[in-house]
Amino acid sequence: MTKKTVQQSEFDELRERSLLRHVINTSTEGDADSVMNAMDTFWDTYFNGEGTKEWRLRGNTLDSAIKQKSPKTAMEIGAYCGYTAVRMGRLMPAGSKLISIEIDPLYAAIATKVRARGWNIFFSSRCAFNNSLFLFFAVPLLRRWWSTPA
Ligand SMILES: C[S@@+](CC[C@H](N)C(=O)[O-])C[C@H]1O[C@@H](n2cnc3c(N)ncnc32)[C@H](O)[C@@H]1O
Repeated sequence: MTKKTVQQSEFDELRERSLLRHVINTSTEGDADSVMNAMDTFWDTYFNGEGTKEWRLRGNTLDSAIKQKSPKTAMEIGAYCGYTAVRMGRLMPAGSKLISIEIDPLYAAIATKVRARGWNIFFSSRCAFNNSLFLFFAVPLLRRWWSTPA
């Protein structure tokens, strides 16, 4: 029997766990802005302010694109901990659908919790396994999701 060794990256998972705990402790349920603020504060502190300016610029650009296009459906590949899903979701029209796919089961679980706190329109977090399997499964799944009323 092969003995599975612990990968160094598994120790890093505590970071995302701490992020989730911070979001739950400091944000208000159902308030997307407070969830985003909690995540911004966590990363600002973690990275000691490094990259904060660029991150704000990216966030504002994303907000402008969503406001301008006002999409009824959107798909994000790579949810990580759900920040951009909450960010986009809060600006999408009522009844719209955002499908956010995450390959890592831990991140998918965290993103689902974060989404539940910050936005309760529609969000689905799935593990895509790998790129080819993702392409194989995504099209039929998306067809089904998009034809289901929100
Ligand atoms: C840069 S992060 C996404 C950040 C996130 N959109 C945000 O800003 O809050 C990229 C994410 O994509 C995920 N990922 C990479 N390949 C993927 C795939 N084939 N299917 C789904 N997720 C994938 C990674 O696990 C990682 O969490």
